[in-house]
This record gives sequence, structure tokens and C-alpha cells, in this order.
Amino acid sequence: MTTTSLVAPISLSTDLLTGAEWSPAHTRDLLHLSADIKARPIRYASTLHGKFIALIFEKPSLRTRVTFDVGIQSMGGSVVFLDHTQASASLGARESIADVARNLERWVHGIVARVYHQRVLEEMAANANIPVINALSDKFHPCQALADFFTLEERFGALRSFKLAYVGDGNNVCHSLIYLAARLGVHLRVATPPDYAPLPEVVADGKRVARETRAKIELMTDPREAVSGALAVYTDSWTSMGFEEEGEIRNAVFQPYQVNAELMSLAAPDAVFMHCLPAHRGLEVTPEVLDGAQSVVLDQSENRMYVQKAILHTLF
Ligand code: CP
Repeated sequence: MTTTSLVAPISLSTDLLTGAEWSPAHTRDLLHLSADIKARPIRYASTLHGKFIALIFEKPSLRTRVTFDVGIQSMGGSVVFLDHTQASASLGARESIADVARNLERWVHGIVARVYHQRVLEEMAANANIPVINALSDKFHPCQALADFFTLEERFGALRSFKLAYVGDGNNVCHSLIYLAARLGVHLRVATPPDYAPLPEVVADGKRVARETRAKIELMTDPREAVSGALAVYTDSWTSMGFEEEGEIRNAVFQPYQVNAELMSLAAPDAVFMHCLPAHRGLEVTPEVLDGAQSVVLDQSENRMYVQKAILHTLF
């Protein structure tokens, strides 16, 4: 991948709520900036000097919380962590989301929030005149998908026409992969059970953008067809946070979508396995695949930090 010298901030939407805010060119620029930050972190050590950023979490996290915290501090900024993971402290219960946002903008320079409902992020963004970054919602996980495509570009080079298969639940990660695959010219095949397909409006946006970028977004129900010849096979938890009561039904419905050695054998010989983690060995993926030589899941985790630093560098 080409890296440039200290990359100038690019002009983008002031928030990152879905991953669809940015043009194809801006999305590519962000991946290039991520590569430069990874290669030369010292050059970005004071990007956030004197800046305070609120990290609001309604759901548990390992990767997102640590990578934002370490990433912000490594750029000279400070973190204010607001723990809303306990039901007794649920966001919006003590005062409205709008009032939380209007107060925060008086003290901090940005908000990173993991929430149950996408509308909470939208309400924060509408009421705070500071950048709001989606750290996962019920609908989208843009930081994850950006790190995933950065990981693929780092390993395989240019992503135009890259064949990526996503197998499993048409969830928040899947939605962000669709938005970004479309913007990066990727050929994405998504295989889900019929009742768990990604949202039609997300697919429609992906297909619209794909016409400009020559990307391809295909939906299907057969995991074998999706994986056939793919250079990367991606899956995620069958039961996302917030859907725990459906766990037993989902485990039965999704069983044919398990990524195991047999399914991986249909992909290209040098294909990689991807998962945003945490993974459930024996459910959506077998241990032999998750812990095997084709797995790049820890590269994805590591790269969360560089991509998020690039997002912060761009928005602040
Ligand atoms: N993939 C991801 O977002 O991990 P965490 O839930 O641990 O943050």
C-alpha cells in the first residue's frame, strides 16, 4: 500500500455515525492515513494535545474501549470514561440524551459512544456541536469495518474487485461492511438465513454506490456459494448484544452458516478468516479455523487502534 508523508486532514462529515457519510475517495484516504499512523506514530503524537474525549459505553467492550483509550492518549489527548453498562445507570434515564449532549459539548471536544440504539447517537450528534463517533450500535459498527478493510488492504494490496464473503447474521457489522465495501470497490457476497438478511435500505445504498465504484454487493442464502473463490471469509456472533433472549433459536437457525474447515476449503487457497471478536468457538466458527493459520482476527483487533486514530486525526 502507498503511504504518504504526514497526511493532511481530509474534509469529512463532522460525525462518524454509520460509515456512509464519506465518499469513496475520502474512505480510501482514511485507510492511507491509517497506514501512515501505523508506520510513523510519533508524527501524530500531539494531534489531540489538550483535547478531552468522552467515551460513553452502554454495552461491554474490550477492543473498542482499549483501542480508543490507548489511541487517544498516544496522540496527546485525555479520556473521560462514562460507564452506562449497568441498567441502573442507563443513558437517558437521569436526563435526556439531548441534555447529556448539550452538557458534554461544554466540557469535552468529542464523544465516542457505544449504544443500544442508533437513534441515541443521532440525537447526540444533533444536539452537540462536537464530533460524535459510533463505537457500535444496533445498526452499525463503522470503526470495525474500516479496520477490517485496512487489514485486508495491508495484506492483499488494492481492494478493487477484492472478493469478500460474509456469512451469518445480517447485523451491525454486516451493514458497515456493505457501506464500506461499496465505497472501496469490493465484491462482497453476503449469505444469511432468509429472515436475518441485512436491512434493505443499507443494501440499496450499497448497490447505489457500487454502481459508481464498480463494487458488487450480492445477497444470498447459501454460505457455500458466498464463500466459493473468496479471498476472505468473515463471520460474526450469531447473537449480537441486545438479542440474547433469541440465542437458542438463533443457534439452530445459523448452524448451517458455521465457518469450519470444510467451508473454508471452498475459498481461495490463500484466503483469510475474519471475525470482529469476541468469538464463540463451536458456534459461528470452529476452533481450528479461529485459531488456525488463515485467521487474521488479531490483526483486525490491532488495526482498530490505527484506524480510530486516523478517524480522530481527521475529525479533530
Ligand atoms: N469488535 C469489538 O467491537 O470488540 P469489543 O466489543 O470488545 O469492543
